Amino acid sequence: MAGRVEGKIAFITGGGSGMGREHAILMAEEGASVIVTDVNEAGGRETISMINAKGGQSLFINFDVSSEAAWQAAVNQAVSTFGRVDILVNNAGIFMVKMIADTSSEDLDRMLNINVKGVFYGCKHILPAMQKAGGGSIINISSIYGVIGAPAASAYQASKGAVRILTKSVAVEYAQYNIRCNSIHPGAIRTPMTKDLMSSEEATKALLASTILRRPAEPREVSYPVLFLASSEASYITGAEIMVDGGYTTV
Ligand SMILES: NC(=O)c1ccc[n+]([C@@H]2O[C@H](COP(=O)([O-])OP(=O)(O)OC[C@H]3O[C@@H](n4cnc5c(N)ncnc54)[C@H](O)[C@@H]3O)[C@@H](O)[C@H]2O)c1
Repeated sequence: MAGRVEGKIAFITGGGSGMGREHAILMAEEGASVIVTDVNEAGGRETISMINAKGGQSLFINFDVSSEAAWQAAVNQAVSTFGRVDILVNNAGIFMVKMIADTSSEDLDRMLNINVKGVFYGCKHILPAMQKAGGGSIINISSIYGVIGAPAASAYQASKGAVRILTKSVAVEYAQYNIRCNSIHPGAIRTPMTKDLMSSEEATKALLASTILRRPAEPREVSYPVLFLASSEASYITGAEIMVDGGYTTV
């Protein structure tokens, strides 16, 4: 039986850990060849060995998403290896817990360089390759914090709000080339990023107070919506934002 993204070429940033790793593994299970990228060399290599061990096809590229030159080189390498790119998941990102008053200009620059410029450059440099290939699907990973407020996360929220609306700009500009672009907004997902936030029962309880399903999610519960948007099952969906948050933003 053919997979849901059989024969597609998927490029996933931050694939060396957490959700990015799971997105990469699921895409490969569903028939895609996967370019796994990360600044975490060991994590990225581990992901591709997990994929290759199951008979999948993958390539690891170590690069920093905040560098435009590095993006250009990575896209060139992906296209020269696989011939084209059909799917981009802009997943790499960082988190920071700080009140506005404690957020330095360096903190803000780092946050925006990785979480916003990283996604912007990703779209900018993959789009010509997708256009040449006749279409594609871009999935940008925002957050529930890209749509609602919370304390001590202002720099992160500014970055994820930008990703949400940038997604809609790409959708509008590139619909004419058969390229779709959507955002995913995860809630509380169990990954290395949220390890500290969920370190005690009390902290987890506070984090989940507004989650109507009353539990955090496993990475794969986000990977399935990403896979759906990547596949032709979502052929009429673009510019959309999908909450994967156990109902957090519902109440
Ligand atoms: N975990 C959650 O609850 C949650 C909720 C909402 C949104 N998100 C978003 O989901 C995405 C994945 O998060 P995760 O929880 O899997 O985190 P994670 O920390 O496990 O993984 C993030 C990966 O991004 C990589 N990365 C960081 N900076 C990079 C850079 N400059 N260039 C290339 N790679 C870089 C890291 O090395 C890491 O492998 C992030 O964008 C995050 O903001 C996470």
